[in-house]
Amino acid sequence: MAGKDLATQWCGSCHLVGDSGTAADSAPPFAALAKDPTVTPDRMSTFLTEPHGGMTGLSLSQQEIDDLVAYIESLK
Ligand code: HEC
Repeated sequence: MAGKDLATQWCGSCHLVGDSGTAADSAPPFAALAKDPTVTPDRMSTFLTEPHGGMTGLSLSQQEIDDLVAYIESLK
């Protein structure tokens, strides 16, 4: 899945991407985001157009954002 590869590469330094591994305490695990009813796909898409959490040099295309959101939603 494209979104999973992107997530592992770009997000895994802070977020717990799959169901194992380690991540920064301040960043919510993706599985938790998927289950959070206030974190909707629309909200994530908008959120991801800007850098966050102190990440640098990351600029995602709309396609990459769509893939990432689809991956996170698949963790429900
Ligand atoms: C440098 C660390 C870091 C990286 C890299 C990072 N994040 Fe985050 N992320 C955070 C932190 C910290 C928070 C919680 C605080 C906040 O919302 O800024 C967060 C919050 C989020 C949220 C929740 C937004 C909400 O509506 O509450 C989403 C979705 C998210 N990250 C997705 C991603 C994705 C997708 C990537 C990879 C493209 C990524 N993050 C990379 C640190 C990071």
